[in-house]
Amino acid sequence: MAQVIDGKRISREIKDELKKQVAAYREQGTEIALAVIQVGQDPASTVYVGNKKKACEYIGIRSAAYELPEETTEEELLELIGKLNRDASIYGILVQLPLPKQINEDHIIQAIAPEKDVDGFHPQSVGRLSIGQPGFVSCTPAGIIQLLKRSDIPIEGKECVVIGRSNIVGKPMALLLLRENGTVTICHSKTQNIKEITRRADILVAAVGRPKMIDASYVKEGAVVIDVGIHRDADNKLCGDVDFDSVAPVAGAITPVPGGVGPMTIAMLMHNCVEAVELRKG
Ligand code: GUN
Repeated sequence: MAQVIDGKRISREIKDELKKQVAAYREQGTEIALAVIQVGQDPASTVYVGNKKKACEYIGIRSAAYELPEETTEEELLELIGKLNRDASIYGILVQLPLPKQINEDHIIQAIAPEKDVDGFHPQSVGRLSIGQPGFVSCTPAGIIQLLKRSDIPIEGKECVVIGRSNIVGKPMALLLLRENGTVTICHSKTQNIKEITRRADILVAAVGRPKMIDASYVKEGAVVIDVGIHRDADNKLCGDVDFDSVAPVAGAITPVPGGVGPMTIAMLMHNCVEAVELRKG
């Protein structure tokens, strides 16, 4: 039976480390503030945004919340971002995605000042990651690297397979595993013979967005299986992209849903807010 990787415990460990750093900054007279913008009232977004605000409160970061109506125009949102870019008291700007259809997400992401891009979505942040320069890294994949490192799971020289190629998870995940000297393969919806590839993986990251798609037939005995998905199953219970009950008996280690990757995303957002201070200080 696999070791179950406790994302809740590891995220708390990281948040407690950050809390000390934030207190030290406060003593030096620096208050860190994160602007959190939500447009509309998507219920899932409301839960995520609420969790982000709670995490800020826990570690001592001020959150400046902006709740804008569903019918907000792109120009109005760009104007708010411009104002926050110029506001020296704001260290990070987070615009919760998805946005209503009248707003172009790319325009919004590109409008955020790169030095406040705590989500790591700006083309400059992505470019820096791809050429190995320091910068903000997308929180979910950064959190997965922390899960592996803090569970003493080596990455160097390992066969790493990422299923999914999104800009937020799959692509940055592959780059980070490569940076850690893994041998990386990305699979996606057009990949042929996918199980042949995933069964080679020592570390398998599932970010497909389909509930319980990855069962034991995709997994090599003893592999480390990281589940990025979050869905509700037929019984309204939370589940991931991985069929936990099928995979846990064959895997060496596995992340649960909930309590695996999810809490790490927020811990890394807090990490990026603290990094924003260091970045500004140069
Ligand atoms: N929507 C789903 N995940 C995320 C995230 O990590 N950041 C933002 N801004 N929106 C999201």
